[in-house]
Amino acid sequence: MKCFYLTTAIDYANGSPHLGHAYEKILADAIVRAKRLEGVPCHFLTGLDEHGQKVQETAERLGQDPQFLCDATAEEFKGMCGHMEVAYDDYVRTTELRHKKVVRNILQLLSEKGEIYRTAYCGLYSVRAERFVQEKDRVGGQWPEDFGEVVELREENYFFRLGKYQDWLVDFLQKNSDFIYPAYRQKQVLEFLKEPLNDLCISRPKSRLRWGIELPFDGDYVTYVWFDALINYISAVGYGTESFVNFWPADMHVIGKDILAPAHAVYWPIMLHAVGLPPPRHLLVHGWWLARGGAKMSKSEGNAVRPMDYAAAYGPDAFRYFVLREMNVGQDSNFSHELFVARYRSDLANDLGNLLSRLVSMMNRYCGGNIPPPEIQGDSEKDLKILAERSIANVRKRCSAYDFAGALEEVLSLIRATNRYLERREPWKLAKGGSEEQIFLQICLGAGAECLRISAELLFPAMPAAAERILAQLGVERTGDWRTLAWDNAPAGRKTGERAILFPPIEEEGNALPAVPA
Ligand code: MSP
Repeated sequence: MKCFYLTTAIDYANGSPHLGHAYEKILADAIVRAKRLEGVPCHFLTGLDEHGQKVQETAERLGQDPQFLCDATAEEFKGMCGHMEVAYDDYVRTTELRHKKVVRNILQLLSEKGEIYRTAYCGLYSVRAERFVQEKDRVGGQWPEDFGEVVELREENYFFRLGKYQDWLVDFLQKNSDFIYPAYRQKQVLEFLKEPLNDLCISRPKSRLRWGIELPFDGDYVTYVWFDALINYISAVGYGTESFVNFWPADMHVIGKDILAPAHAVYWPIMLHAVGLPPPRHLLVHGWWLARGGAKMSKSEGNAVRPMDYAAAYGPDAFRYFVLREMNVGQDSNFSHELFVARYRSDLANDLGNLLSRLVSMMNRYCGGNIPPPEIQGDSEKDLKILAERSIANVRKRCSAYDFAGALEEVLSLIRATNRYLERREPWKLAKGGSEEQIFLQICLGAGAECLRISAELLFPAMPAAAERILAQLGVERTGDWRTLAWDNAPAGRKTGERAILFPPIEEEGNALPAVPA
């Protein structure tokens, strides 16, 4: 059976994981978790892009074998996923045999179909972007910073007939207006396609680049970085084997805006089409995390945030919550330690943390650890129930539109409303009253606990461990299915679990976790 197949970009193996890498994997993980809560079987692939000049150079600089360097880097990136609760189903590395075999098969197939030819090329070459560039790529007369040094280069190379598919691609994009999310990015790609598309240089002579996959039809060349990397999306799910149909077409490639055009929106659909495969169903394009001053966060800028430091200091759930709450998918966002601390304090320690700790301690103190059933007594409880059920519907809707910022705000609104309800009903005062007040007390705590239970279920894609720990304190297991989640559908007769503070107060002042030095 075809599953929902979701991939992320595979990270370059020439550095350590930073916030941009972590965010993308967390976003993908949250999407998959939300899908599974809707009963959709999923397959989640991520991985590492290990070939190319930069990896070769880094290995040379360190006096290491490139494979040794990649093995260490792969452990580091996988470790990052582990720390961040990113539960991928498969991790593909482009130096794996399963990948290299498929890349070579595809190259052979395309060469036999006459889609690849050899010719001499003299052009301008960007060392950092590892591709030939054109005069028209200059911005205001200058080469974009991403290009690094641009040099003139003449060499024989192999080319893929990209240009001949330009009309097909334009037609495809026009007929599939929801191919790229957010939609304005699709318009940008169509704009890009107004200029004639050149054929794509897909090889590098081994004299210049050794660390790559050798062309099956010419041992003096390795394949070009994108032609290698993009194929991970099919090599990892058994292209050429029977099970491939269970995965392809991919339902979603999650990528950053810098690798949309031309790589994912132009090269990739055309490569697939030339091979005889359908394009992926959707590309989900997220923005960039920016450092203070609006600069892109990256290792080379020396302003990268180390995600693992945050996970270690404040817990992975707080970090996941922050990035998913703060970034509107598609737009850029700023990361600053002050912002992180402010959100942690207000949303997690204060709103969510307080609700949990006051409810559990009151149920322990006043109800002998029993969790009262959520009964409807008056308008306040009725309102709370309506709000909770509306939150379920809205969170489901927002998650299916990849709007995690909106979904989390919905849950936090429910949590804040529950806190306000408790403040109005003052259960601590009811506890001192007579038998009628004791009934109200039970009703009040029952309603509060039900809102918190529903909130925890809804927080699961963003904060898997915290959600489970909240539910454990409410004496219940996660339902694992949003389709049946409703007010009062948990088992009755529950008892509170062991108390635990999920989000301890942050005492520090100022910037306690500085950006990693260059
Ligand atoms: N190896 C290529 C992708 C090949 S996919 C077939 C690559 N690697 S990368 O390590 O540079 O980037 C991996 C992903 O992280 C990309 O989707 C990129 O957009 C994302 N991010 C890298 N820096 C980022 C930010 N500062 N903010 C958000 N995401 C960014 O490109």
